[in-house]
Amino acid sequence: MSLQSKLPNAATSIFAIMSKMATDYNAVNLSQGFPDFPVAPALVNLVSGAMKNGWNQYAPMPGLPLLRHGISQKIEKTYNTTANADTEITITAGGTQALFAAITALVFEGDEVIMFDPAYDSYDPVIKLNKGIPVHLELKAPFFGIDWEEVEENITTKTKAIIINTPHNPTGAVLSELDLLGLEKLVIKYGIYVISDEVYEHIIFDNKQHESILRYPGIYANGVAIFSFGKTFHATGWKTGYMVAPENITKELRKMHQFNVFATNTPVQYGIAEYIKNEENYLPLPKFYQAKRDKFAKLLSSSRFEAHHCYGTYFQLFSYDKISNKSDVEMAEWMTKEHKIATIPTSVFYKNGKHIKYLRICFAKSEKTLEQAAEILCKI
Ligand SMILES: Cc1ncc(COP(=O)(O)O)c(C=O)c1O
Repeated sequence: MSLQSKLPNAATSIFAIMSKMATDYNAVNLSQGFPDFPVAPALVNLVSGAMKNGWNQYAPMPGLPLLRHGISQKIEKTYNTTANADTEITITAGGTQALFAAITALVFEGDEVIMFDPAYDSYDPVIKLNKGIPVHLELKAPFFGIDWEEVEENITTKTKAIIINTPHNPTGAVLSELDLLGLEKLVIKYGIYVISDEVYEHIIFDNKQHESILRYPGIYANGVAIFSFGKTFHATGWKTGYMVAPENITKELRKMHQFNVFATNTPVQYGIAEYIKNEENYLPLPKFYQAKRDKFAKLLSSSRFEAHHCYGTYFQLFSYDKISNKSDVEMAEWMTKEHKIATIPTSVFYKNGKHIKYLRICFAKSEKTLEQAAEILCKI
């Protein structure tokens, strides 16, 4: 009997492929998006303390009240708006599971969902799993911005939702107040939902302010905002995040969450609940990562790679146009094998693998890793 696939075109992700290649060829790994420096010892102590204190059984389905109330206060401090801890905030197994719950709750058979390429790799398959139709528009060069007129032209009677991501992986672009106002107009005019991937909310540079949908009532009324503690606390392996949505949407999100994971890791929730009380544990992130971005760009200034300006996230695109005519996939493979440095080709973030001569590097790395990487890149 042949097994039918619900996602026949989904292959092993490029992140897994490049990381394996990095290991096989003993290459410096700037490919996958995770820090190579440790989680703050204070946070590790809080989590391990929770384990030692016996907080090792199921958490309540929507998440520990202590953590949800902490997040509610954090939202008030950060975005000057309120989200009810009991009815609007749900703790998830990272941003990825929140995206899964949000898309699954909102998208029905035949619904169209507008998304923007280059895009994070989970949006398209999860829309398809729910028998929805992903409508891929492209972010516009040179700044990878959204053309809101084009978005409006693509809204049909079947359009159910729009997925946005700011700060944006892989381009490092951020949406402005004008973008959010443009989106708000469309949401009100056409009654569509917004799934807002904000996992890099605190990693934003050049004194820019993160424009969360939480600050735009017309969007938030139809919105789900998604966050990740993995990104904020250098702990991607803990897979802990949350989603924030109005009560009527949250009710549906929690049904998806309940039958997907039920509840997430209890001791991590206890540890983070205590840790987020102190805003010094997340507010310095822009300064911390901007220093890494600038250091790496400086180290590469004598190389033939050209940096595309990064306003947020810990990723940066580098053009290799002056070096080679290879496709970006060939270039990334060649660099891993021959020069022992692993990056991610940008074309994989496009529906049809656009020809684009950028490689994505992750600069969430120690000084030593960045120096080693720059030394190699300057010789290519
Ligand atoms: C844009 C974007 N959204 C969501 C996620 C997933 O976040 P998490 O690791 O918390 O599942 C990532 C992780 O790389 C991401 O880059």
